Amino acid sequence: MSKNSPVEEEKPISEALKRFKRSRLVLEPSLGVLGFFLVGLCLVWSFFYFDYRTAAKSYNLSDKSDRFVWLKLENNKSSTTISSNRVGFLEESGDECDVFDGDWVWDESYPLYRSKDCRFLDEGFRCSEFGRSDLFYTQWRWQPRHCNLPRFDAKLMLEKLRDKRLVFVGDSIGRNQWESLLCLLSSAVKNESSVYEVNGSPITKHTGYLVFRFKDYNCTVEYYRSPFLVPQGRPPRGSHKKVKTALKLDTMEWTSSKWRGADVLVFNTGHWWNYGKTIRTGCYFQEGGEVKLKMNVDDAYERALETVMKWIHTEVDSNKTRVFFRTFAPVHFRGGDWRTGGTCHMETLPEIGTTSLVSSETWEQLKILGDALSHYSNRSETVKLKALNITAMSAQRKDGHPSIYYLGSLGPAPLHRQDCSHWCLPGVPDTWNELMYALFMKQEASSSRRVKEANVTVS
Ligand SMILES: *[C@@H]1O[C@H](CO)[C@@H](O)[C@H](O)[C@H]1NC(C)=O
Ligand SMILES: *[C@@H]1O[C@H](CO)[C@@H](O)[C@H](O)[C@H]1NC(C)=O
Ligand SMILES: *[C@@H]1O[C@H](CO)[C@@H](O)[C@H](O)[C@H]1NC(C)=O
Ligand SMILES: *[C@@H]1O[C@H](CO)[C@@H](O)[C@H](O)[C@H]1NC(C)=O
Ligand SMILES: *[C@@H]1O[C@H](CO)[C@@H](O)[C@H](O)[C@H]1NC(C)=O
Ligand SMILES: *[C@@H]1O[C@H](CO)[C@@H](O)[C@H](O)[C@H]1NC(C)=O
Ligand SMILES: *[C@@H]1O[C@H](CO)[C@@H](O)[C@H](O)[C@H]1NC(C)=O
Ligand SMILES: *[C@@H]1O[C@H](CO)[C@@H](O)[C@H](O)[C@H]1NC(C)=O
Repeated sequence: MSKNSPVEEEKPISEALKRFKRSRLVLEPSLGVLGFFLVGLCLVWSFFYFDYRTAAKSYNLSDKSDRFVWLKLENNKSSTTISSNRVGFLEESGDECDVFDGDWVWDESYPLYRSKDCRFLDEGFRCSEFGRSDLFYTQWRWQPRHCNLPRFDAKLMLEKLRDKRLVFVGDSIGRNQWESLLCLLSSAVKNESSVYEVNGSPITKHTGYLVFRFKDYNCTVEYYRSPFLVPQGRPPRGSHKKVKTALKLDTMEWTSSKWRGADVLVFNTGHWWNYGKTIRTGCYFQEGGEVKLKMNVDDAYERALETVMKWIHTEVDSNKTRVFFRTFAPVHFRGGDWRTGGTCHMETLPEIGTTSLVSSETWEQLKILGDALSHYSNRSETVKLKALNITAMSAQRKDGHPSIYYLGSLGPAPLHRQDCSHWCLPGVPDTWNELMYALFMKQEASSSRRVKEANVTVS
């Protein structure tokens, strides 16, 4: 059972609205329906109005009570959204800034690309091309509270990646982010055919790994599917017969030998670490030669993270490789989970300014990851391991999912089978990449500063 049961959370007005919207899809057109529709429009409009007002208030614009004044104000980017009294994150004075603490702000200069201009997107992420008509979700920019982020500069990033490899390892949400980065980077490349998969493989859902080369920069941006980060395989002989597969918690994936030498590694995991995707399907946890029938999912998750962290510290060259670990991206199913009719359809606005949207299970997972990261970040200061702590910010973006707009040629997905886990692109994963870009550039800036300082002390 999902803890996000609709009874606890829904406000009556939005529930009524949603029921109405749902029924609207099945009614035949008639005069009565037309009237109903008009009333509905009023409702929808007042709903938007209300939400914008709430959003406006949180930016202290409440004296400008008219929604349209507010929107016009937001159009004037220089005066309202990029605050001039915040320091730049890349400046030395931005060192202390927590870029994950902030707000979503409306910014008409977004999105950074259009899905129809990007060849690297799965059909599942091309929401606007598959019928999603509201585009608000593409125009929110992340604004840290205490500093300004650098704008994503694809050319500069590619220049920094020259002769290098950037590798994503994780589940399909990791692939979501990888495809976002391919779109962001390729937007700066004029010659389409100079960006290609090295084995000529197309982007499809179930490929184990894909390697895209940016020929002019001699760099690759790669994705390795590994939903648990540790390998899943046949259980040892003589295991209990309810054990169909086993996750080898103390072993790295065989593909790890391929990612070890990367210059930038971006990990994520989480969506598969639950009862439904493990024990319920007969997948148990193995340590050494033994399957631990009693081990619960959280403990197994912790062990697997330990294995990965240990590997990072012993196998990864800390002088060369930067490691990012992206935290869990929340899902937004209401009224059930993905298999029991949970929905996020018709969500068109974020929930701005709230921090209490992350579920307790997600906090628990985040804590386990946080512990693993901090435990290992004291052991050796040289390994450049950073968390991309996007859980709280993404929890505010219930409007960012494909919902029913993901099946492509077969038409919209049925209302009871919605995708409220992955993200439309352009969309929220672009922001994760902008944050990664900022942290990457920050490290570049501070290491060149260190070199300079070293030169000064030498001379
Ligand atoms: C809102 O702005 C007014 C001045 O325009 C200021 O006095 C007040 O402290 C601000 N409130 C917040 C919460 O920032
Ligand atoms: C936009 O912001 C600039 C600088 O703050 C200001 O000079 C200008 O008057 C503003 N324009 C509008 C239309 O508000
Ligand atoms: C391309 O990059 C690789 C490292 O990823 C390097 O070994 C190789 O020499 C580079 N090739 C050229 C032509 O610069
Ligand atoms: C574009 O890239 C392809 C593949 O690398 C290359 O063969 C072609 O010459 C390039 N075209 C231009 C105009 O640079
Ligand atoms: C990393 O670089 C430092 C200084 O350049 C060097 O002393 C150290 O041996 C290097 N470590 C590895 C693992 O290569
Ligand atoms: C991520 O941020 C949350 C607050 O939003 C904090 O509680 C948590 O400790 C952070 N986790 C990591 C791994 O940095
Ligand atoms: C790591 O550092 C934190 C505080 O910076 C401390 O609480 C924790 O005990 C340290 N962990 C280890 C394993 O030394
Ligand atoms: C530091 O000094 C070395 C040689 O002494 C030089 O090659 C390098 O360019 C200097 N770096 C900077 C950032 O000044």
